[in-house]
Amino acid sequence: MRFDENLRQQAYDAVDNQFPVVKQDPYYPGYHMAPPAGLLNDPNGWIQWNGSYHLFFQWMPFHTGHGAKFWGHYRSENLIDWKLEPIALTPSDWFDKNGCYSGSAVADEDKLKVFYTGNVKNERGERQTYQCLAESADGIQFEKKGVKVHLPEGYTPHFRDPKVWKHKDHWYMVIGAQTTEEKGSVSFLESSDLENWTHRGVLSHAEADPFENLGYMWECPDLFPLGGREILLFSPQGLAADGIDFNNQYQSGYVVGSLDYSSASYVHGDFEELDRGFEFYAPQTTLDDQGRRILVGWMGVPDQNESEQPTVSNGWVHQMTLPRQLELKGEKVYQLPLDEMKNLRKHERYNQKVEGESSTSLSRAAEIEVSGEIDELNIFDNATISYDRDAKLLHLKRLSYVDGTIETRSCRLPNGLTHLRLFVDHSSLEIFVNDGEEVFTSRIFADVENDSLNVFTKNTAHLQIWDLKNDT
Ligand code: FRU
Repeated sequence: MRFDENLRQQAYDAVDNQFPVVKQDPYYPGYHMAPPAGLLNDPNGWIQWNGSYHLFFQWMPFHTGHGAKFWGHYRSENLIDWKLEPIALTPSDWFDKNGCYSGSAVADEDKLKVFYTGNVKNERGERQTYQCLAESADGIQFEKKGVKVHLPEGYTPHFRDPKVWKHKDHWYMVIGAQTTEEKGSVSFLESSDLENWTHRGVLSHAEADPFENLGYMWECPDLFPLGGREILLFSPQGLAADGIDFNNQYQSGYVVGSLDYSSASYVHGDFEELDRGFEFYAPQTTLDDQGRRILVGWMGVPDQNESEQPTVSNGWVHQMTLPRQLELKGEKVYQLPLDEMKNLRKHERYNQKVEGESSTSLSRAAEIEVSGEIDELNIFDNATISYDRDAKLLHLKRLSYVDGTIETRSCRLPNGLTHLRLFVDHSSLEIFVNDGEEVFTSRIFADVENDSLNVFTKNTAHLQIWDLKNDT
């Protein structure tokens, strides 16, 4: 058997062995994408192509740590039911032998083409990086086409995660990079045929560089038009916590700006965190045929107590976020659950006005909608959302899965709290605040027997709860 087939077979064997255990884990999601075995991280190659949504993902099938990543593949027609497809990329060639790292997909000439980073460690343990192409005629089987971009001068080998798009009749690519001065940056490239790429330099703001002090490495950049502007999304590493901001190990966020394609100059505002929760990283967007800019993120953060997650003992770790629609309102990116998420609803459990204290039961796969200003909402006696009316701060507290202490993430709501929409899925919680003004994405590892929901409000509010699709 050829090396790549052999490696692929080993991954399928790992799934056959592990999935029976994984699917019985009470923390395994009922409607989010998660690995059938091993570790999942970044969303890759996110695209609607030939009538299906394809979401590839960074995958280590053999254990719950990182390493030589595969590209796993989920596909869906309706954004609700996801089917695991055959492995798309195997780390089996000289240019990707230590990992088919993150990348993106484009449609070109009846083919689905994916660009990804070939991660290589040489015999001295030094990192090498190659930006590679693979193509598919059916969206399932991929043929590697080898290296298309070598490391340009001016960067260290921390140069990865190509995101490709078409503008007018040219192709463009942004790559997450570290300059030789060890600053995080984004490299900008151009091509007329997806084969030959010209390095246009670091994407930068003419003279004064407001990217100063934004960390030592940026991962997973994405650049796209939204609301008449260009958004640059990226995941910087090396930012110090600053009050309620930047509290996770690494961040994910965006700037709103204008890109001049001819000079590669990008004039933009300040860096904003995209999500206020405990676990969110490396998001990627795509444009679908309804013109929606849809984002999916990894519900995890590298080097942030990953090996302590309780699911590790069952041989799997991490999951994706729900797909979210982006909108630009003023200078702020809003994130909303897609309309299709209403199709997750199976049964309405609760629909009532609440005032003072209310309690009810909650299934492990549930949606909660609260209209009005509330003071506190507690899920499974593990996660509490509380609103401080005077400070206009919303807090999410949870019991740490590492040591059981209380941890907090917060955001400011300058116009107060009017609406909450929550998605609970066994061990995850996504909180959409005020129709997407802020989002908190987090894992919660509550006592599996606990089914309680408690709400406290000084005013009246309206509470509605649904049981959602729950089929591991
Ligand atoms: C982000 C990241 C990427 C890299 C991939 C490897 O989480 O570190 O920069 O391509 O994960 O799995």
